[in-house]
Amino acid sequence: MLLCRVHTHGLSVMKRILLVFILAAAVMYGILHGNLWRNNFYWISFYGQTSSVRASPSYVTSGVTISYNELPPTAVERRNALDTCLLKPAFESLLGVDKIYPFLCANDFIRVAGFQGSNKFELPYGIKRAEQFFRLALSRLQNCGLPSEEDSIACRRCVVVGNGGVLRNKTLGEKIDSYDVIIRMNNGPVIGYEEDVGRRTTFRLSYPESIFSDPIHYDPNTTVVLIVFKPRDLKWLWEILGGQKISAKGFWKKPALNMIYKSSQIRILDPSITRKTAYEWLHFPTRFPKKEKPKHPTTGLIAITLAFHICHEVHLAGFKYDFTDRNSSLHYYGNETMSQMMQNEYHNITAEQKFLKKLIDKNFVVNLT
Ligand SMILES: *[C@@H]1O[C@H](CO)[C@@H](O)[C@H](O)[C@H]1NC(C)=O
Ligand SMILES: *[C@@H]1O[C@H](CO)[C@@H](O)[C@H](O)[C@H]1NC(C)=O
Ligand SMILES: *[C@@H]1O[C@H](CO)[C@@H](O)[C@H](O)[C@H]1NC(C)=O
Ligand SMILES: *[C@@H]1O[C@H](CO)[C@@H](O)[C@H](O)[C@H]1NC(C)=O
Ligand SMILES: *[C@@H]1O[C@H](CO)[C@@H](O)[C@H](O)[C@H]1NC(C)=O
Repeated sequence: MLLCRVHTHGLSVMKRILLVFILAAAVMYGILHGNLWRNNFYWISFYGQTSSVRASPSYVTSGVTISYNELPPTAVERRNALDTCLLKPAFESLLGVDKIYPFLCANDFIRVAGFQGSNKFELPYGIKRAEQFFRLALSRLQNCGLPSEEDSIACRRCVVVGNGGVLRNKTLGEKIDSYDVIIRMNNGPVIGYEEDVGRRTTFRLSYPESIFSDPIHYDPNTTVVLIVFKPRDLKWLWEILGGQKISAKGFWKKPALNMIYKSSQIRILDPSITRKTAYEWLHFPTRFPKKEKPKHPTTGLIAITLAFHICHEVHLAGFKYDFTDRNSSLHYYGNETMSQMMQNEYHNITAEQKFLKKLIDKNFVVNLT
């Protein structure tokens, strides 16, 4: 009887100790987790890089190559790439660049959207009423990390290459190729224009109507960042990566009907980036009068916003338009003219040029053209 009581007493002490341990673990988890989110420690260790190692200054200054432990992919261990660089650019605070991880991940995009408020906006500025489409499209992608090569550079120098006609005959190709990260957009070609625009492409921002479909433009070193404007775009990605036949219905113009990139090369841009471009940077109204087409930022401006989230230094090329000559060429390729751009109802070029001028005047960016 006595033995029995001691025994049960012993058990309950064990239970209490266990309970205390579990509670302590829960509290620790809460604190760490809360801190991670509060600091926007937002990075994914997709390739198994541990953030603590790479965030340490000694890593940055000594330049020693550290081999990372193999960790299972987890969406919680996020941190910002900017933390690897000790040079904190002034524009970060001035522009209010709070660090958003730029690509959506299948396993936590809903939670991230809730955290950033993207669940309150519809496309192209949020995921509201398109969650299922996002889920489907993301299920076709293998990962959502930065390309590993770029992820390993501590202080990234980036150039955003616009498609402007101003790039013609400037022979900036070599200069452009010298950056760590080269961001291009839509179907601005490299082939045939290497002297003026360079050869390398790290990121290419596109949407279904603007993505390359001719395999001649395939580059194995490019990561394609899909800007989603409408649910149809997500369905398109799901269909095209599933090898299904694409119907061209529901697009602004004919979309790509075949995918030249591997699914491992594709990311989906977090709509918060697009929202930030439109509302915080260009000050677009959230509502437009019925008779007016709603204005959205151009791919170029979205690309610059993306650059501010992943780079420490942002340079621009090909962003100037010549409004004085309607016959001047709009792009460095093809033969569209400025008059076509001036008729564009979907963008507010005036607002964008004003914003760009501000960025350049305040030395937030360096303009090469
Ligand atoms: C660019 O240079 C080529 C050959 O040098 C010339 O034919 C062309 O007219 C030039 N284009 C512009 C826009 O200056
Ligand atoms: C891709 O990158 C590798 C390694 O940097 C390089 O050798 C190769 O030429 C690049 N390919 C293209 C098409 O740029
Ligand atoms: C622009 O081109 C059109 C026709 O191609 C021509 O009639 C017009 O004079 C040109 N304008 C300028 C400013 O060169
Ligand atoms: C340029 O315009 C001509 C006729 O206006 C057209 O035949 C040609 O295909 C165009 N070239 C390109 C690259 O769009
Ligand atoms: C474009 O933006 C400017 C502000 O930069 C504004 O004054 C103008 O009304 C806008 N135009 C359209 C068509 O929305």
